[in-house]
Amino acid sequence: MRIFDIISKKRHGEKLSDEEIKFFVDGYTCGDVPDYQAAALCMAICCRGMDEEEVSALTYHMMNSGDTVDLSALPCTADKHSTGGVGDLTSLVIAPTLATLGVNIAKMSGRGLGHTGGTIDKLESIPGFCTALTGEQFMKQVRDIGVAIIGQTADLAPADKKLYALRDVTATVESLPLIASSIMSKKLAAGAETIVLDVKYGSGAFMKTPEDAVNLADAMVKIGRDMGRRMGALVTSMEFPLGRKIGNTLEVIEAVEILRGELEGDAKTVCVNLAANILSLAKNIPMDEAFDAVNEAINSGRAYEKFLTWIAAQGGDVSYIKENRLPVGKFTREVVSANDGYVSGMDTERVGLASCMLGAGRVTKDDEPDLSAGLVLHINPGEKITAGQSIATLYTSDEGKLDGAEKMLLSSLKLSDAPVEDMPTLIYKVIR
Ligand code: URA
Repeated sequence: MRIFDIISKKRHGEKLSDEEIKFFVDGYTCGDVPDYQAAALCMAICCRGMDEEEVSALTYHMMNSGDTVDLSALPCTADKHSTGGVGDLTSLVIAPTLATLGVNIAKMSGRGLGHTGGTIDKLESIPGFCTALTGEQFMKQVRDIGVAIIGQTADLAPADKKLYALRDVTATVESLPLIASSIMSKKLAAGAETIVLDVKYGSGAFMKTPEDAVNLADAMVKIGRDMGRRMGALVTSMEFPLGRKIGNTLEVIEAVEILRGELEGDAKTVCVNLAANILSLAKNIPMDEAFDAVNEAINSGRAYEKFLTWIAAQGGDVSYIKENRLPVGKFTREVVSANDGYVSGMDTERVGLASCMLGAGRVTKDDEPDLSAGLVLHINPGEKITAGQSIATLYTSDEGKLDGAEKMLLSSLKLSDAPVEDMPTLIYKVIR
């Protein structure tokens, strides 16, 4: 078999066999297939697509390119994956909430890249929190308290790790078969029985339209189901940032506000819906019962107590949370609107970029983010605002970053003269 022939076959729009896909994945993982041929095949897949069988084969071989986690010793394991967002703090709320309800969350998460945030960076903004547990520590913690979140190990789906980095620099990220197999290979390798996906659409997401996001969600749900997992997906809006706080420490603060029952809004709505769907699937109970249980876990304070237990178990100093003194950037600026109008939209990618420019994100994978940097939005979708009104507060440790971030944030704001009729639907579709 030659990789040249496989590239040529896909370039002509033909279907690849399981053996050909395995040959490519194994060859690329071990270095026999060079980057330029892998990039050519990815481009051919972007242009010609893949059918369901090919996507399943690609996922399966990428999943098996490294270690797979065996969680079978734990009952009722569940995982959730978001396709990437801005102000998306859901894992921080969902994990402890479900742990109080008998669902074991043994989860591997990623770091932020580009304009999107990552759960591991957010957790590391809590002083002392350790995101690198050994396999044994990880399993023991889940057995003891029902929740552990760690960084992805190098050996989990290494084919995807290499391919994703290659796609990032060869304009081959936005392809349904490549995104679906990339995400699902990691989720399947991580071992949970129940997997619920939060597939984002809109200006801050890979999928710009809800229809494309539904197609991606359907494809991933099918892959997982075919591999014997209980699958669900929510298609949710990233037309606006999900939470009001954006940036690592700031998102932990907002998650704590939700867990303490101090904050309502879109972020809480998505958390509750994701958690209820996971609970319903994992425990095989009706959705209304699942919603009641999730709401009760939060309203009773049990989810917040579990959050503190979890943070302490991974070495985090909970006094920063209990005493509301997680450190945020010492240089601040109010960003004011130059005009009157109704908030008809926000370019969410630009909001995420503004937060990155304050130091919260990485430009390259090796950058160390400023965990205390970010911004707090003071406006809501559809709201009427007036010239001179503060739309956000910026936070950073580097005063020199304020000007650029302010410009970027202002450029994200879309105002209209008349009230907005059609606001984006927060939860566009639930797939079970
Ligand atoms: N997230 C992933 O893990 N992979 C993709 O291809 C896109 C988003």
